[in-house]
Amino acid sequence: MSKEKAILTLDGKRIEFPVVRGTEGDVAIDISKLYEEHHITTFDPSLANTAVCKSTITYIDGDKGILRYRGIPIEQFVTNSPNFVEVAYLLLSGHLPTREEGITFRNRLTENELLNETMRYQFRSVPTSAPPMAQLSASLSNLACFHRDLFVLDTDDEFMDVSAQLISKIRTVAAFIYRRSQGLPYIYPNPNLRYCANFLHMMFSLPYAHHEVSPEVEDALNLILILHADHEQNCSAATVRTVGSSRANVFASCAAGISALWGPLHGGANVEVMEMLDGIHRGGLTPEDCIQMAKDKNNAFRLFGFGHRIYKNYDPRAKILREACDRVFATMKNQNDPLLNIARKLEELALADSYFIDRKLYPNVDFYSGLLLRAMGIPTNMFTVMFAIGRLPGWIAQWKEQHDTIGGRIIRPRQVYVGNTETNYIPVEQRP
Ligand code: CMC
Repeated sequence: MSKEKAILTLDGKRIEFPVVRGTEGDVAIDISKLYEEHHITTFDPSLANTAVCKSTITYIDGDKGILRYRGIPIEQFVTNSPNFVEVAYLLLSGHLPTREEGITFRNRLTENELLNETMRYQFRSVPTSAPPMAQLSASLSNLACFHRDLFVLDTDDEFMDVSAQLISKIRTVAAFIYRRSQGLPYIYPNPNLRYCANFLHMMFSLPYAHHEVSPEVEDALNLILILHADHEQNCSAATVRTVGSSRANVFASCAAGISALWGPLHGGANVEVMEMLDGIHRGGLTPEDCIQMAKDKNNAFRLFGFGHRIYKNYDPRAKILREACDRVFATMKNQNDPLLNIARKLEELALADSYFIDRKLYPNVDFYSGLLLRAMGIPTNMFTVMFAIGRLPGWIAQWKEQHDTIGGRIIRPRQVYVGNTETNYIPVEQRP
């Protein structure tokens, strides 16, 4: 550890803190012994300024719009066209797979793509209108019932095994949720298809007609999953780590991550974006109305798909997806999705408006992802499920890193209590 010190003076006391520096220049003051030694805590609502861990998985420079997985810039995953499975392996293991490791991992995914048949009753036990994210979270919890042998992971091999179980099965679960909601027969996975094509097959094939997937659509889905694969300590990853810090198994921890992702300020924003664009298209609102509503502090409306806790620049994922929209739509029969034009208009208005400029609010990953998913035929209520499929390798990698932290303590924040001072209990008959 560095010998550098940060100094705080409070109530006449001088307190010294170690300083932690990251490999990319991050600087943090280590306050971990502050309460133990001085009975003082720090106040950081929403943890906007607190590093809760050291991590080697993902690096983000929000001012410059940089995102790297295990050191590799996100743009290189576009130009070198790897597949999502390879990126998942990178996040999980810390290195790109050798040819042999890649084959072994892909085989593991294929071997684990089926669900226990009993799980089908779970999909039948909820209304067809049940929210897909509720079912997805429940399904990951339920998977734990079938894999109790994987609660405690002693070896790297067991870790890759549980990772393959989850990454493969979430795709089958997601497709079955959709099929059930449509009253369609379940389509079983096809071991000869690649990850994305297999998912689209389970979503859209019929017992008598295989759904042909164009290479452009398969590539676009692959790209979307890669771009969502990890994003360091976001709300859902922090949830996975918090749950995992209690030594809860990886199934339970990732199920909690899905619940966190569901919210409209996080992964649920992709649904809100589409509803906003659709609302404008149907004539209820104009792009100008949306911008005004988003700026109005008396209105809870936000310009969904805009803004980010970390990025104070264009989200690099949004930039890539904006370009992907052009490529994919150019190959479609109906090349003019009116919602794409509305999205572009909204972006143009926001980027020229001082409200957004001053607050450094730029499009985020959710602004364009929905348009691509819609072009693939994925219904809006499945968008956040797609985000979850992409994010799962990141959650598992974050869970493992938390789990492997030597001396890793249960995550348990403190508070500054501002409630009643000591108050007596009043029996009901004496209450006013
Ligand atoms: N529309 C209008 N105003 C906004 C927006 C927006 N989309 N985002 C932030 N602001 C304003 C906010 O009202 C605040 O203004 P002021 O300083 O006058 O009070 C200022 O910008 C700072 O915002 P904040 O809420 O303090 O920022 P945050 O870091 O807490 O929240 C955020 C980040 C992503 C939740 C927020 O930008 C937001 O609600 N965006 C819309 C939802 C969205 O698109 N979420 C997806 C995020 S990317 C995918 C993911 O990782 O989940």
